[in-house]
Amino acid sequence: MTDGPDPTPLRVAVLVSGRGSNLQALIDAQASGRLPIELVGVFSDQPKAHALERARAAGIPAHACAPRDHKGRTAFDEALFGQVAAVQPKLIVCAGYMRIVSAAVVERWLGRMINIHPSLLPAYPGLHTHERVLAAGDAEHGASVHFVTPELDGGPVIAQARLPVQPGDTPATLAERLLPLEHALMIATVDLLARRNVYPASRTIGVDGRGVDQPLLLHEDGRLYDASGFVA
Ligand code: GRF
Repeated sequence: MTDGPDPTPLRVAVLVSGRGSNLQALIDAQASGRLPIELVGVFSDQPKAHALERARAAGIPAHACAPRDHKGRTAFDEALFGQVAAVQPKLIVCAGYMRIVSAAVVERWLGRMINIHPSLLPAYPGLHTHERVLAAGDAEHGASVHFVTPELDGGPVIAQARLPVQPGDTPATLAERLLPLEHALMIATVDLLARRNVYPASRTIGVDGRGVDQPLLLHEDGRLYDASGFVA
């Protein structure tokens, strides 16, 4: 996470459990020269995850590690994250990775592991976010990228994308409209982490030595802004 005109590509490992559309967004952005990263490995707890096929198709080493082959969460996490550590990532991106990571492993990667979550955190950590937004009658929904801490979906939020809820929305229509925003948010946030020094600071974040009180906001131009304007 260095600054400069021509940064060394950031070594990124991606953890996935399913479809892998957020992974694909990173693959495509990297391939088109928009993202200064190197995808050094894709790892899944689901050997049949479509995301692994996407990785292989892009020539990225794809690894499956099945929980049933290990005795308990700690043993599984040690095995999986041992494989992850072997590719020496500077950043781990959880992109639709559906398992809770044990606290010891989270602590080891603190500040170097992020997750994308389909809600405006701290609202609606956990599952079924679209349903819960509709049940509450919220006017707005969205997605967040946050640093992973031992608290589920509770780490400092780096950036968010906001989406108005429309009359007649269902969980399916919300999910469909949110997904492209998630992809843009994922690309912009990883780009920020590749170019700038971003770190967790209490419940918020810092960027290049400056505290940022509120999550950065994705604008329609695909860039991230804070209260005083353009950030990255
Ligand atoms: C996304 O909605 C993400 O926010 C959530 O799981 C979904 C993963 O989608 N955590 P994909 O596998 O990236 O297509």
